[in-house]
Amino acid sequence: MTAASAAHPHERPLDTPADWWRQATVYQIYPRSFADANGDGIGDLRGIISRVPYLASLGIDAVWLSPFYPSALADGGYDVADYRDVDPRIGTLDEFDEMVAALHAEDIRVVVDIVPNHSSDQHEWFQAALAAGPGSPERARYIFRDGKGPGGGEPPTDWESLFGGPAWTRVPDGQWYLHLFAPEQPDFDWSNHEVRADFLHTLRFWADRGVDGFRVDVAHALTKDLTEPLPSKAQLEAIARGGDHPIWDRDEVHEIYAEWRKVFDSYSPPRTAVAEAWVERHRRPRYASPEGLGQAFEFDLLTAEFEAQAFREVVDDSLELAGISGSSSTWVLSNHDVVRHATRYGLPPLDKPVGSTESEDKQGRAWILAGAPEEALDRDLGLRRARAATLFELALPGSAYLYQGEELGLHEVGDLPDEARQDPTYFRSPGVDKGRDGCRVPLPWTTTGSSFGFGDDGAHLPQPEWFGASSVEAQDGDPASTLSLYREALRLRRSLQSAERLEWLEEFTRGDVLAFARPNGWVCVTNFGDEPAALPDGEVLLSSAPLDGDRLPGAATAWLRAS
Ligand code: GLC
Ligand code: CA
Repeated sequence: MTAASAAHPHERPLDTPADWWRQATVYQIYPRSFADANGDGIGDLRGIISRVPYLASLGIDAVWLSPFYPSALADGGYDVADYRDVDPRIGTLDEFDEMVAALHAEDIRVVVDIVPNHSSDQHEWFQAALAAGPGSPERARYIFRDGKGPGGGEPPTDWESLFGGPAWTRVPDGQWYLHLFAPEQPDFDWSNHEVRADFLHTLRFWADRGVDGFRVDVAHALTKDLTEPLPSKAQLEAIARGGDHPIWDRDEVHEIYAEWRKVFDSYSPPRTAVAEAWVERHRRPRYASPEGLGQAFEFDLLTAEFEAQAFREVVDDSLELAGISGSSSTWVLSNHDVVRHATRYGLPPLDKPVGSTESEDKQGRAWILAGAPEEALDRDLGLRRARAATLFELALPGSAYLYQGEELGLHEVGDLPDEARQDPTYFRSPGVDKGRDGCRVPLPWTTTGSSFGFGDDGAHLPQPEWFGASSVEAQDGDPASTLSLYREALRLRRSLQSAERLEWLEEFTRGDVLAFARPNGWVCVTNFGDEPAALPDGEVLLSSAPLDGDRLPGAATAWLRAS
């Protein structure tokens, strides 16, 4: 084998409990849309418990649950009213314990979502802040300011929220509070000691209940420098995000995670964490370092076009960053915030830039694509590429985060009726950005029947007719199905897994084709083009599409054991 190597210097023995996360496959559950046991149209913990056998059949190592906390659902639960309880519509703390026990019994670890940048406006602290008035210690936990202009009637700045519209909302006594997201999501002031202490309490609360890890929402926004005079929107956007930007990715945010790390490490095995931090590449390793959260999502594969060079660059970069941080790479193709990858890969690229940084731009474009017209979508090509990209992802060194429904090859539900939409990004754009509801439609479990087996009485977002043919029931046992492909891939991944390294097989990596080998002779070849490509010698273990004789067809990946 000729090889240019993208080596990971950090090698530790596999399968020690403390290292379980390094090459884990983590399956994201969006609880409201997974399985509804009591027939109220909303997924619940009982539903998850009832589907533990299914989760076990996939061969995953962990589940990550998006927020299940009490919430007014202004942002799908990312507006948390109580960080240490379960939404009564979703279940109880006892059911949570039962769910953890059922998952642990199958060797599936549990990761929960922590949302520290903002609470819900229904949180008792925000309600107390409203009641207590300007200058009070209650208000000091959030970011309240007087307005500008006559009578303070204008917001303190012209900043915009990430969901569209102003980032400040006025309260009846005339003050304004900051919300980087929806008005129902007031930002905490992380220089406040009570805020810091309360989150340590929350981390311990869940870790004590047996939670194995945490996914940290908007991890790069917690600390802010809001010294007067505040910059204008234009000034704010012009400031480089190099550690002293007033809002994003400030260096001192890592002091918080160093404190959290002490909590994580006080458990055995240490609790893990993964940062959702949309930051420039070179800024990511600090989030992923062992002194910090320990892992950070790599969204570069998710935002890359389905193209050989683009994928290779992302992989080389990410392995290099993992070498710097000492973490493992953390791959993602789909999640609850982006258009499902089967659909992204079936749509023409959108050329219009929509964000102020590269990563915002790419994320923003993916969101806008959610509303792309059906005629623009080549469903078969999208799914074919998605299956190929998934096998590519699952062969990479590091951990992989899968999103519920991708194992069914689900497409985005692009044509939800406007009146059914729930996502604030849709209402606040308004309507330009179709929002994220299309990847959050409740899962189809059965081919027919009420809400395709999701529950007994409908689903909180309407499911399209084609869901039946994509259901678990329709795919179970069909060797050609996407579900079977995921199960087989995850089974093989366990047996083939080895040290966190790969070598590019230059002889086969040319044009539209990428080929790499992992230690132990696990070879992965992906053909991003249209023309069939030659495969290296070896036993073909799995392919995302039937081979063309002994060649790999276009938009396909094969795994081989090198001979
Ligand atoms: C993260 C979540 C997203 C949420 C936002 C605000 O990006 O993934 O769903 O809307 O944070 O909490
Ligand atoms: Ca329910």
